[in-house]
Amino acid sequence: MRIAYFFNEEWEREFVGSRLPDHTFDFFQGAVRGEGIPDPSVEVLCIFANSRVDSAVLDRFPSVRIVATRSTGFDHIDLEETNKRGIVVVNVPTYGEHTVAEFAMALLLALSRRICDAHRRVETTGSFSQEGLRGFDLKGKTIGIVGTGHIGAHMIRLARGFDMNVVAYDAYQKADLAAEFGFRYVSLDELLACADIISLHAPYNEQTHHLINAENISRIKRGAYLINTARGGLVDSMALAKALEAGIIAGAGLDVIEEEGHMEDEVGLIVMEHPNEARLRALLANHYFIRHPRVILTAHIAFNTEEAIERILSTTVENIKDFVGGTPKNVVTHAR
Ligand code: NAI
Repeated sequence: MRIAYFFNEEWEREFVGSRLPDHTFDFFQGAVRGEGIPDPSVEVLCIFANSRVDSAVLDRFPSVRIVATRSTGFDHIDLEETNKRGIVVVNVPTYGEHTVAEFAMALLLALSRRICDAHRRVETTGSFSQEGLRGFDLKGKTIGIVGTGHIGAHMIRLARGFDMNVVAYDAYQKADLAAEFGFRYVSLDELLACADIISLHAPYNEQTHHLINAENISRIKRGAYLINTARGGLVDSMALAKALEAGIIAGAGLDVIEEEGHMEDEVGLIVMEHPNEARLRALLANHYFIRHPRVILTAHIAFNTEEAIERILSTTVENIKDFVGGTPKNVVTHAR
């Protein structure tokens, strides 16, 4: 089969090429786009989460039979469109529960112990003054985990290791997990009201769009911290900016933000024929977050470890082989 492979790093070409020798690859750097000469020879689209697969992209590759995303999340793929065209979508469901949870905990520790501030002070001034760098203990604090799937469950495990109290919210509760780790499922409102730290681990879809929004953000316990390593769209950027201004949220660790894809191409969004006001506002909010002294912003790197990348690529290779062999695995069928 002919595989259009949209890569992030050069070495991926050798890695996947040598493991799928019976197939022909067209390698492209970066994200797939709808514009371009249509190519009816491509049967496999292999992409990362930065590629939006919509009808324009599928029109450009009209013979595609499988979209293999090298990510857990699949909110960047228009499933209605792929279903309509009979295209199979596969993902990598479990490469990164340790990887992403460790990163979420790193963001939390960086906030709780002011690590970025402390480093910046020593680096930029050479000063060893401790003034203004007092942090807080995690022990005894309540963490509210939104989404208790692979990553959320591991975050709970880590939080328990820090002697934190845990409450959780999930649309699909897991009683055995709650019993194993001694936490309580509560409503989202209750979680927001009682958690000192809120950590998001739910997928992004129609139900979770702006799960944290202008209406419920004011119910968050005053002085709480927000960690988001899931997807930017779970949080209304405007609401978060207001809550930071009002001191409702004391600080945030954000690996994902709304419109993160446009942070390197802001002009593209600004000069769009019909720029959407909400998207422009989100872009503006991102600059507010970057400058905010108690917001730590990273560029969607929670997945990015040696071990996780290797697992992602190996699973993707197996996903393509399984599809070719007639027994596709890791098929994404619904929005959950
Ligand atoms: P998962 O599918 O194992 O768990 C998701 C959990 O969210 C499930 O327990 C599910 O029941 C729950 N959920 C679904 N809808 C919900 C709703 N409306 N409200 C509350 N909970 C809901 O997924 P996993 O592996 O834990 O990953 C979670 C998310 O993390 C992914 O969807 C992806 O977007 C994001 N992610 C981010 C990465 C990064 O580099 N920043 C890397 C990997 C994943």
